[in-house]
Amino acid sequence: MQKFIVTGGKRLRGELRLQGSKNSSLPIIAAAMLCSDECVLKNCPRITDVYAASRILNCTGCKCSFSGNTAVTDSRCMNNNEIPENLMSEMRSSIIFMGAMLGRCGECNVSIPGGCELGPRPIDMHLAALRKMGADIREEMGRIRCRATGKRLHGARISLAFPSVGATENIILSAAAADGETIINNAAREPEICDLCGFLRKCGADISGDGESRIVVNGREKLHGCEYTVMPDRIAGATYLSMAAASGGEIILTNACVSEMEPFLSVLEQTGCSISADENTIYLRNGSRLKAVGDRIRTMPHPGFPTDAQAVLMSALLKAEGTSVFEENIFDCRYRHTDAFMKMGADIQVMGKIAVIKGVKRIYGTSADATDLRGGAAMISAALSAEGTSEIGSIYHIDRGYENIEKAVRLLGGDMQRVGM
Ligand code: EPU
Repeated sequence: MQKFIVTGGKRLRGELRLQGSKNSSLPIIAAAMLCSDECVLKNCPRITDVYAASRILNCTGCKCSFSGNTAVTDSRCMNNNEIPENLMSEMRSSIIFMGAMLGRCGECNVSIPGGCELGPRPIDMHLAALRKMGADIREEMGRIRCRATGKRLHGARISLAFPSVGATENIILSAAAADGETIINNAAREPEICDLCGFLRKCGADISGDGESRIVVNGREKLHGCEYTVMPDRIAGATYLSMAAASGGEIILTNACVSEMEPFLSVLEQTGCSISADENTIYLRNGSRLKAVGDRIRTMPHPGFPTDAQAVLMSALLKAEGTSVFEENIFDCRYRHTDAFMKMGADIQVMGKIAVIKGVKRIYGTSADATDLRGGAAMISAALSAEGTSEIGSIYHIDRGYENIEKAVRLLGGDMQRVGM
């Protein structure tokens, strides 16, 4: 089993080019299934979740291959609409292939997706929306069989009870190839939804309103291929900035999506870091002890503070002067990294959705397993600002979303190695 060995105490300094977005690449790879020819997807991160998405595409007879950060897909030879359980369970977002397959061939057979380490992650809103669009959905022994009752799905007016990212994506994917108009009210407004829609529009889809809470999709019979560049990863950006802030460093992030990161940057700035940015570059400097964040940090759907950045920001606040309070509103079980932080000497109290962090002067290296993707990245960040050496296990969680994270940390002067087989 591989693990990371991280020795703290070095200030991170230097320039880093941000990877492409995981949460954009995954739905865009699924969307490529709707196209009648080849798509060239640039800036795809080389991470295990993206490889899992490509395995799903390949298992349907479509083709997906990589050359560096470019994925080339070809969906002309699709011949299978059944995704086996072992592929479905590799990652939560395997569920968005359901909308793409229903759009492409009006039929699919999938299973409940994996990845429930953040608490219960039901798919009731996905299923209710697809039913409203004319899908007959049967759940038997863990399998979900879906079939359009007509030749294709039809448009519908859908109001989501909560702006779910995955449900919004599934509806967009199936609506792009459905018969007629679909209106999604209370849609998710995350930048990755806009990136998916940007890709689909380049393929000939008729979509408007993405980035707002009412999205309108007019189905097209056929979409064509295109060349598209995936947006930068705002959460990887938040991770490296938090690491630099925690270690008292000075970094320049290039290829960053600055305006999409504003909800995170405005909170990080309250810690006393100096942050400046132009269109796609962020410069951060922190020469002194960070200050706690005065306002409660509430995770909310975009444009609120992102739940995916909660753990990494917390890692930067462990040694801040004063008390910071987090309120996690998206997932029930997203404070699992706090056990490792406490083992390092942090002063944290968790009460349901609230976590209170009283800044301490020092934290110390420890051994701990990554609990989930972002929690694992946050452990690396904490370890970089701790005294001594930490060993972080179960790093497959981290490899799901960060491209060569140890290389990025070393490039910035951090002491981090991957060991083991
Ligand atoms: N929910 C339901 N029913 C549904 C769908 C969602 O109750 O049918 C609930 C979930 O249980 C959760 C909340 O709604 O409590 C939000 O879930 P959402 O559907 O918005 O999340 P997701 O699509 O499963 C994506 C990202 C997550 C990110 C969330 C929230 C991808 C591949 N994943 O998940 O990213 O945390 O949106 O922004 O896009 C990560 O990258 O580490 C990650 C977990």
